[in-house]
Amino acid sequence: MKIIVTGGAGFIGGNFVHYMVNKYPEDMIINLDLLTYAGNLETLKPVENAPNYKFVKGDIADRAFIFKLFEEEKPDVVINFAAESHVDRSITDPESFVRTNVMGTTTLLDACRTYGIKRYHQVSTDEVYGDLPLDRPDLFFTEETPLHTSSPYSSSKASADLFVLAYHRTYGLPVTVSRCSNNYGPYHFPEKLIPLIISRALNDEELPVYGKGENVRDWLYVTDHCKAIDLVVRKGKVGEVYNIGGHNERTNLEVVKTILKALNKPESLIKFVTDRPGHDRRYAIDPTKIETELGWKPEYTFDTGIVKTIEWYLNNKEWWEHIISGEYTKYFENMYGERL
Ligand SMILES: NC(=O)c1ccc[n+]([C@@H]2O[C@H](COP(=O)([O-])OP(=O)(O)OC[C@H]3O[C@@H](n4cnc5c(N)ncnc54)[C@H](O)[C@@H]3O)[C@@H](O)[C@H]2O)c1
Repeated sequence: MKIIVTGGAGFIGGNFVHYMVNKYPEDMIINLDLLTYAGNLETLKPVENAPNYKFVKGDIADRAFIFKLFEEEKPDVVINFAAESHVDRSITDPESFVRTNVMGTTTLLDACRTYGIKRYHQVSTDEVYGDLPLDRPDLFFTEETPLHTSSPYSSSKASADLFVLAYHRTYGLPVTVSRCSNNYGPYHFPEKLIPLIISRALNDEELPVYGKGENVRDWLYVTDHCKAIDLVVRKGKVGEVYNIGGHNERTNLEVVKTILKALNKPESLIKFVTDRPGHDRRYAIDPTKIETELGWKPEYTFDTGIVKTIEWYLNNKEWWEHIISGEYTKYFENMYGERL
């Protein structure tokens, strides 16, 4: 099989490419990524010379480029991770989220229709369901929960999901959608909570925490997400949505304190800052459907996954220090510049 993975130089896409290249040597994995600020080819170093891996730089919203790529490569499967993914950035610049997350998705869908495809999979988020109150721990998001978005980011992701499902209903395109809770693990860009706290705490810098740190997120170790997507693509029913989550709810403050304890750093580093506008209170996934229909179960709890993650950041300082210094942006030029 030839599989196009979009956004494979990002956090989850990068972990997914590693997983697929190693697990399926008989498949060809094409990593299509625009290398925005969030794309980092240093993440792909361990697989960049594998015979079943290829990198292509390009924009999923560039119709001419995407159609040419599909014409040349004739992929069997497309898995779309590419997105603008940071809520804070969506508040300052909503339009780039519409362009990549909505128009990029419809461009890929049109190419899939034109060139025929065995499966299109959309990687989505639990944020499309909005948030849950903090005082109702009995409530969870199921696949039937109505879409009720809060931020420009989640609105763009919800729009994309609706287009994906409409292309199934209208054109019979074989699609699946997965909606996952917050991920953490190796290769996570240090603007997001967990790597931000680890990298700053290691440098004894102040740790910004929104509001009182009471917001609750449902954390999933990234390889558990990758395995779930692989399962949905291979065994999931077309036209269906699958929620992915491991019942690992923690307040942001709990997460920060866990990291500080593991690193033996003082809680005095914590600095509460003005809350994000429209900040979602609680996310919590009900994963019953993927567990019962497809037999998925996460391998890691938050307690085991966070230890593994902290170890990874301690052993891979160069990777995140290059991001903080901006060095990573030169990798494409160094690696591919002469070949272009
Ligand atoms: N991070 C999470 O906790 C989480 C949870 C659930 C779902 N998701 C979804 O998973 C996907 C991946 O998230 P992530 O955290 O790895 O994101 P990320 O920001 O780390 O990576 C996004 C990647 O997409 C690429 N990209 C951006 N615009 C592009 C374009 N126009 N064309 C081609 N490539 C482009 C970037 O260069 C980057 O490599 C997203 O769709 C996100 O909505 C993320």
